[in-house]
Amino acid sequence: MVLMTKLKVNIVETLPSLSKTTALLLGIQKGPRGIQLAKSTFDSKVLGDINFESLGLSSDLGKIGKISGPEGSVLVLVGLGEKLEVDSLRLAAGAAARESLSLENLIIDLPLKDVSQVSAVIEGASLGHYEFNNYKPKAQSAKLGRLTVVSPHKPDKTVLAEIETISLAVKNTRNLVNLPANDLYPQQVVAEARKLSKSLPVKLKVWEEKDLISQGLGGIHAVGRGSARPPRLLKVEYRPAKAKTSVSLVGKGITFDTGGLSLKPAEAMVGMKYDMTGAAVVLNAVLAIARLALPVRATAWLCLAENMPSGSATRPNDVIKIRNGKTVEVLNTDAEGRLVLADGLAMASEEKPDYLIDVATLTGAATIALGNRYAGLMGDAGAVKIIEQAANTAGELVWHMPLPEELRSLLNSDIADIANVKIGSRAGGMLIGGLFLREFVGATDGHKPTWAHLDIAGPANNEGAPYGFTPKGATGVMVRTLVQLAKDLAN
Ligand code: BES
Ligand code: ZN
Ligand code: ZN
Repeated sequence: MVLMTKLKVNIVETLPSLSKTTALLLGIQKGPRGIQLAKSTFDSKVLGDINFESLGLSSDLGKIGKISGPEGSVLVLVGLGEKLEVDSLRLAAGAAARESLSLENLIIDLPLKDVSQVSAVIEGASLGHYEFNNYKPKAQSAKLGRLTVVSPHKPDKTVLAEIETISLAVKNTRNLVNLPANDLYPQQVVAEARKLSKSLPVKLKVWEEKDLISQGLGGIHAVGRGSARPPRLLKVEYRPAKAKTSVSLVGKGITFDTGGLSLKPAEAMVGMKYDMTGAAVVLNAVLAIARLALPVRATAWLCLAENMPSGSATRPNDVIKIRNGKTVEVLNTDAEGRLVLADGLAMASEEKPDYLIDVATLTGAATIALGNRYAGLMGDAGAVKIIEQAANTAGELVWHMPLPEELRSLLNSDIADIANVKIGSRAGGMLIGGLFLREFVGATDGHKPTWAHLDIAGPANNEGAPYGFTPKGATGVMVRTLVQLAKDLAN
């Protein structure tokens, strides 16, 4: 993997000198006489009277304009929107970092009123400092290596280290997800997970194909059996001595989703390398939790398979058996995520964690319902509430959706405990996905963890233009929320 250089961060009280390798970030806001520069330590008199409107600049949040500054520097003017809050500052700094990748230094000189606002711009800039050029290393444009924030409010070392850990987890997630499926298949995800876990206090356990069969993991096996590259289940466990609570995270890891024999049309198949985002998210969330040494037991379960059509693939009408003993009639092989997650949820439930959360690019219906920026959140009230809180703190978007009881009977099967889809029904596709998964939560002795399901089919991948700290392609969404959740549970 071609990795970017690390972003070195420092906080200073007075503006450093500018040069031609420097981008200076200044804010623009609406004032009484139109758009004006936000308060900064920069002596804006050297610019003379600039008419920002006539330059086409906007104070809308995250809008970027560039003009030349003193000593050959570049002034990056970012719209700060209506109100200065940590969320808007994080986003604005992220946009500025993305637009300053080709310079060596970025100086942020904004009206930051406390340590939390300084932390927000550092986090935003770190998240925006991202480029994926594994496949065209020569085109590498990122030179940005130093971030300087001008402010008297200096976050402590531990806060800075935490921001670095969390943004690295997000970027490692993006890297893994952006890899195409010819280079990233189930075994390779395991290999990448081993590399990322090196020197961290975590334990890995892998179920190979023969183990999947002998241990009754019929969902993962059924989805992976059509591929020349065998499926895997990977468990990554962080088990600190003084854990206050336990969280298990289950991720959908379909390294490519052709739909299987229920083959997707050509256009719908493009983008299906992103179908392992859930697995990448839970992996990197647990690794970040371990690196931060949070007193929470955290376990990631990566349900890894490539969904391919072939002579050995699962057919529509096949009946399979999930780890908890329930049988599933597969009516559509393209609803494969719920089959691999069923095994993951059942396996995780056997360990009786306090909380069980699954993360998956589960349904196209999620994007119909919520668009491309919100994750759909379903499940038990207790888990929904703490995830909403954590997402709110992290500045990520989740939306609570129902699990309507009357839809459950749509999945009744004539010959198995449950079917994986209702053929011909398009109502509530995301919710039906959630109802299916709910059947596999809980140990066979009746113990049930508090469970929630995150459908990230919309926000996992940004097909549109980059915005804020979000690049094109893989976003790494929900890593920050899950780490925040562990922090909240630790307190
Ligand atoms: N991986 C897809 C869901 C998806 C679609 C994610 C578009 C991101 C963008 C999933 O496996 C799938 O194909 N789901 C089917 C379910 C249906 C057969 C019930 C879908 O959404 O059409
Ligand atoms: Zn599918
Ligand atoms: Zn899928």
